[in-house]
Amino acid sequence: MRERMSIGARWDGGGQNARLRQAFDAGLIDFVEANYPVGSGPDCDPSMGIPVYVHSPANSVASPTGLNRHICEQVKAAATRFDSPWIGEHLCATGPEAQSRLGYIVNPILDPRLADVAVENARALQRYYGRPLALELGPQYQTVGEMPSEMHFLGDVARRADCHIVLDIAHYTASNRNLRRSEDYGLDALEPERIVELHLAGLRTGKDRRYWHDAHERLPDEGMVAMAKSLAQSLPNLRAITFEHEGKAPEADFFAFLTRLREELS
Ligand SMILES: [Fe+2]
Repeated sequence: MRERMSIGARWDGGGQNARLRQAFDAGLIDFVEANYPVGSGPDCDPSMGIPVYVHSPANSVASPTGLNRHICEQVKAAATRFDSPWIGEHLCATGPEAQSRLGYIVNPILDPRLADVAVENARALQRYYGRPLALELGPQYQTVGEMPSEMHFLGDVARRADCHIVLDIAHYTASNRNLRRSEDYGLDALEPERIVELHLAGLRTGKDRRYWHDAHERLPDEGMVAMAKSLAQSLPNLRAITFEHEGKAPEADFFAFLTRLREELS
């Protein structure tokens, strides 16, 4: 029988420690996923005793401006401290500026020459980190370039750089809605065995009611939960599902959704 799927929750700062601790003690989560580098607040505390998966939205993996050494050092130190099974990195086009926390939504031009750059960067990161890299896409608002889609870009880079993939179901669903594609568009451009982790979060539309955005204060809708369930059945190497829910979102939602994930997906 297949191993139990690990369920995790995103850690954004010390304000979430109490609820994460409670969820871990209740057997609802197996790990937390922390974004590095952390901002001005406290670092994720190893004394919590909860395994930590290390993730970074801050390196411009798909850009010729290259990687930021200072960020890479902090990500590597965290991954070493917590013995993270892999490190999530975003296949995005902007990076180390002060506003880098939003950089992950700036997507690369879908050009094979930029895919070559991303392959080189991903290989370099994987060598430097000394552990597997798992590439993730941000939500898409437009596509520019000759490759058919960002999913094809990701599939190509992951294959050539030999990386894992984090499939963020909220980002993927937002992209498909924003670009008016079918809900499972482009999944066949990824090698299924590379997908090791899913992210689940809510979505909202902006004031224009046209474009969909990541909304960590909301719960995933039923369509996204159904997609997660179906992928959990079919992906051969899927090992983790991370619920992204911010610390100021309702605590009752947090525990109810984790209970559901545990019952229905792990
Ligand atoms: Fe994500």
